[in-house]
Amino acid sequence: MPLTPNLTAHWDEPDSYTVAGYERHHGYEALRKALEMDPDDIIGVVKDSGLRGRGGAGFPTGLKWSFVPQGDGKPHYLVVNGDESEPGACKDLPLMLASSQHLIEGMIITSYAIRANHAFLYIRGEVPHVIRRMHEAVRDAYKAGYLGKNILGSGYDLEITVHAGAGAYICGEETALLSSLEGMRGQPRLKPPFPAVAGLYACPTVVNNVETISSVPAILRNGADWYSSFGTEKSKGIKVFSVAGHVNNPGIFEAPLGITMRELLGYAGGIRDGHDLKFFVPGGSSVPLLTEEHLDAELSYEGMEAVGTMLGTATPMVFDETVSVVRAITGWLDFYKHESCGKCTPCREGTWWIDQLLHSLQDGTGKMEDLKQLEDLCAQILGRSFCALGDAAATPYPAAMKFFAGEFEAGTHTSANAQFNPAASIVFPGVTTS
Ligand SMILES: Cc1cc2nc3c(=O)[nH]c(=O)nc-3n(C[C@H](O)[C@H](O)[C@H](O)COP(=O)(O)O)c2cc1C
Ligand code: SF4
Repeated sequence: MPLTPNLTAHWDEPDSYTVAGYERHHGYEALRKALEMDPDDIIGVVKDSGLRGRGGAGFPTGLKWSFVPQGDGKPHYLVVNGDESEPGACKDLPLMLASSQHLIEGMIITSYAIRANHAFLYIRGEVPHVIRRMHEAVRDAYKAGYLGKNILGSGYDLEITVHAGAGAYICGEETALLSSLEGMRGQPRLKPPFPAVAGLYACPTVVNNVETISSVPAILRNGADWYSSFGTEKSKGIKVFSVAGHVNNPGIFEAPLGITMRELLGYAGGIRDGHDLKFFVPGGSSVPLLTEEHLDAELSYEGMEAVGTMLGTATPMVFDETVSVVRAITGWLDFYKHESCGKCTPCREGTWWIDQLLHSLQDGTGKMEDLKQLEDLCAQILGRSFCALGDAAATPYPAAMKFFAGEFEAGTHTSANAQFNPAASIVFPGVTTS
């Protein structure tokens, strides 16, 4: 399947993030078209395009927008989620760096469609270069008359606020993000009510991912049929895939949904020379891992479900035979334990227990009973935690046991294979584990 650069088409141009650089390639043409349309018709086009949220869950975007009540007399808000902190995910930050104006144009069109006059962009706190870039890009758009009062003489007003988080993974969860934006501790809120009804400052709010909103201008400009001509039956359109790990040419590849991992590996230059694929996770550390037998499965929402995993953020991490599965998973659990916000017991306590047991297996000091206990712990957390961070933490171990049970058994001192030391292998080139 050929690559289809859309959001990434002009990344080789040094000013791709500026208004001038964007206008050279149809930038802001979609906005002119949108401002002459009825807002509901814009929602209709996005619905027809089949665009689904690119933040991980894949919720239909136009449908989400249509949940915002109209004529309720309250302010409406658009909040764009630029918190990208999932281990392995690297698409939203590069998009903000190099395709800043696509995002801003998408934010204006979306805000107009949901009748909002104030939009927020929440960016993860640890990336000052991205935060600075987006501040500059927003200033540029104000100067060009695309933001502020009476945009392009249409009578429509929009302010954009760029907000930096303080570096917490949980603030990517949409309701925790809203609390953080309001100046409160970033912890998830009970749903319902969903943000579309009671979000920021208890007003109707659409929360969408950076890639989702950046995709909107091309859909408006080229039409819903153009966008839905890419992809599969249930996964329409173009996706930004970031391929990381043990490949010769890690990077970002934009392609229709439905491309296979084998094809993506080809674009990424194959597994690094002299090595073989051991396993990969298709969508960040929160989704079950896959192995070589799944290389021809479609990278689509339904294709990944059919092989027992999820598309997630579609940011595959690739691991070769030098990697200990036990060690890789222990690293992820270190992360989830650290990032658990502590609001609910299954996740707050469970992530510590899982992590502790995994560490003993990694050190070769585990017990055979630990394997069963880990299984029980994951089952207790999955579906019982307050938000999806708990589910994410409970996912890697059962998935890895499906394919690599022997490596976990080898980490027990009762194992016949106790001389195997998973800690002796490496996770990434150049990173020693001693
Ligand atoms: C722990 C956690 C972290 C998340 N982090 C992000 C993130 O960084 N970016 C993002 O867009 N969505 C993230 N999400 C998903 C959001 O809650 C939400 O579903 C998404 O922003 C909706 O946008 P979309 O419909 O465009 O995908 C996260 C969810 C959880 C549970
Ligand atoms: S699942 Fe974890 S991150 Fe989510 S609310 Fe519970 S403690 Fe917080």
